[in-house]
Amino acid sequence: MTEDESRFSSHAEYLDALEDIPSNPDIEDTLGDVIQRRLNRRTALKQMLGISALGVLGAYPLAGSARTGAGRPQTISDSSTDGFRFAEIEHGVDQTHHVSPGHSADILIRWGDPVTPGAPEFDPYRQSTAAQLQQFGYNNDFVGYIPLPYGSNNPAHGLLCINHEYTDAEMMFPASAEKGKPGRPDLVEIEMACNGGSIIEIKRTAGEWGLVKNSRYARRINALDTEMRISGPAAGHRRMKTTADPDGQRVIGTLNNCAGGITPWGTYLMAEENFNKYFLGSLRGHPEKDSFTRYGIPGSGFAWGRYHPRFDIRREPLEANRFGWIVEVDPLDPGSTPVKRTALGRFKHEGAATIVNNDGRLVVYSGDDQRFEFLYKFVSRDKVNINERGANRDLLDHGTLYAARFADDGTLRWLPLLHGQGGLDETHGFRDQGDVVIEARRAASLLGATPMDRPEDVEPSPSNGRVYVMLTNNAERQAENTDAVNPRADNIWGQVVELITPGGDHAADTAHWELLIKAGDPSKPDVGASWNPATSVNGWFACPDNCAIDPDGRLWVCSDQGSKWKHRSGTADGIWALQTEGQGRGTGRMFFRVPVGAEMCGPCFTPDGKTLFLAVQHPGTAGTRHFPGFERKSSFDDPATRWPDFDPETPPRPSVVVITRDDGGKIGG
Ligand code: FEO
Ligand code: CA
Ligand code: CA
Ligand code: CA
Repeated sequence: MTEDESRFSSHAEYLDALEDIPSNPDIEDTLGDVIQRRLNRRTALKQMLGISALGVLGAYPLAGSARTGAGRPQTISDSSTDGFRFAEIEHGVDQTHHVSPGHSADILIRWGDPVTPGAPEFDPYRQSTAAQLQQFGYNNDFVGYIPLPYGSNNPAHGLLCINHEYTDAEMMFPASAEKGKPGRPDLVEIEMACNGGSIIEIKRTAGEWGLVKNSRYARRINALDTEMRISGPAAGHRRMKTTADPDGQRVIGTLNNCAGGITPWGTYLMAEENFNKYFLGSLRGHPEKDSFTRYGIPGSGFAWGRYHPRFDIRREPLEANRFGWIVEVDPLDPGSTPVKRTALGRFKHEGAATIVNNDGRLVVYSGDDQRFEFLYKFVSRDKVNINERGANRDLLDHGTLYAARFADDGTLRWLPLLHGQGGLDETHGFRDQGDVVIEARRAASLLGATPMDRPEDVEPSPSNGRVYVMLTNNAERQAENTDAVNPRADNIWGQVVELITPGGDHAADTAHWELLIKAGDPSKPDVGASWNPATSVNGWFACPDNCAIDPDGRLWVCSDQGSKWKHRSGTADGIWALQTEGQGRGTGRMFFRVPVGAEMCGPCFTPDGKTLFLAVQHPGTAGTRHFPGFERKSSFDDPATRWPDFDPETPPRPSVVVITRDDGGKIGG
């Protein structure tokens, strides 16, 4: 333990603090600065708690903020005032989930459940790599639905593509097995098998969703043994070559698959997010010292590099260049090789949401989820061929990657990351387009992209031509570097930005933007939140992350408050509907709440809007030291909840929940 680490109460919290140090060199910050600001915030929080007690007594007039006078949640739908047609649930934290009355929430699949034909049942005390390679992975995040047969709009039969973002050994294995932080090599392999994705076939029969057993589509994609092809400008590049792959064309596995996307031709895009955490080693004398520093490599969050040399940057110096990409998978062909599409750039991709532009080309939006990093889009060179899916096989290999520059006057310019333009040339160390995509962050910095408050999911709306960008938080933003789109210093609440494309043209190099909401409690003036005043006491949220647009064009937003701030809002994470149109614009309403310690991921609707799939990630894990009555670190042996099984022999399990409306109608009415 370093002297710095000794100032934190757990290894995980220390890793969190390391993440707070921006790697964008335009923002100067050190671990010392981060620690100092955190201590200052603790003092400020204590002072604020005193102030909010006064607020309850009515010392604050709450002008222009939420409707707080009601005191209790609405229990009837009231479409005449705010446009919602479902009853809200209350903010709060407990050991289970909650859904809006009149809806049912059922567990569809949990960590360890069988995926591929012949897979064994889950036994938490007898886990093995061989079993896990056939079972549902850990920490489900993105969920995508592809109707079957392909090309139909079938709302009752389809493939579900689910990402598994990362593992948490303390929650997965009993302390007797784990024996300390280094991680046993066999447990490391189980963790590697838990990453990646799952493809399952599901069907709704007599109203009930279930897995199709022995499906020919069932597949596990993982970090241990799934071979992938590299395509696009970085394929075969000198900086992509390793001992195992001297041609720079093939790579084993995918890491930290956060959100993602489904293309119009029915392929599954997996976004590689915090890939830096899997690498160990030192940058002293390293050939990629500067570029790795910008990506936070080595992140040293896992023990993999002790047993697998490719995750040690001293032994395999270029392996880390082969992660941080968008991976395209064909779920309709379970034998197909996933492809890392390098034309879409290398960064901490939160997701990859697609839309067919009005000129027929594909546009992919993707946020780079780190403090002071950028928002990107990719515009394909060629048009999508809806009628012949095979014709789109190489569509994601040719096109232009752009980063966004926001101006304070509400305009936005998309800056093309093209070799030879705007200084992206040899004078700045970019020899070719391969260098540009490998170091997309540095290229975007050179062009003058706007450092953002952690861009998470980005969803283009097929119904209004607008694009919704979730900016989750940025506690390290200082007053002197706020701007109109990132307007709050010490921003632990986040904001939702709306991009207005000119004439619905997503390929245009300009757009307008507006702040849809500034998240956080609108009844507390020091928070600086901004919502439609029709928002109830339960209708606001903090830290927007994943989102989805339902078939009627309504926006739904998930929250992920992280371990440090969950207790600041007084509620567990969940999903809220958020109005984007008319008088109700900027009004939120809470629909579903996760159990303690979880975050809400994966919102995905069937084409009829009658089913909503949600992913409950890391139940019983984050922020449990603030959970009244528990107030300690959670673990496999002593978890804050045993959701969803509530079996004394079973740890909490990340799970996909399927929500339907009891009267058979659309989710949310
Ligand atoms: Fe994996 Fe940015 O959430
Ligand atoms: Ca996440
Ligand atoms: Ca996320
Ligand atoms: Ca997040």
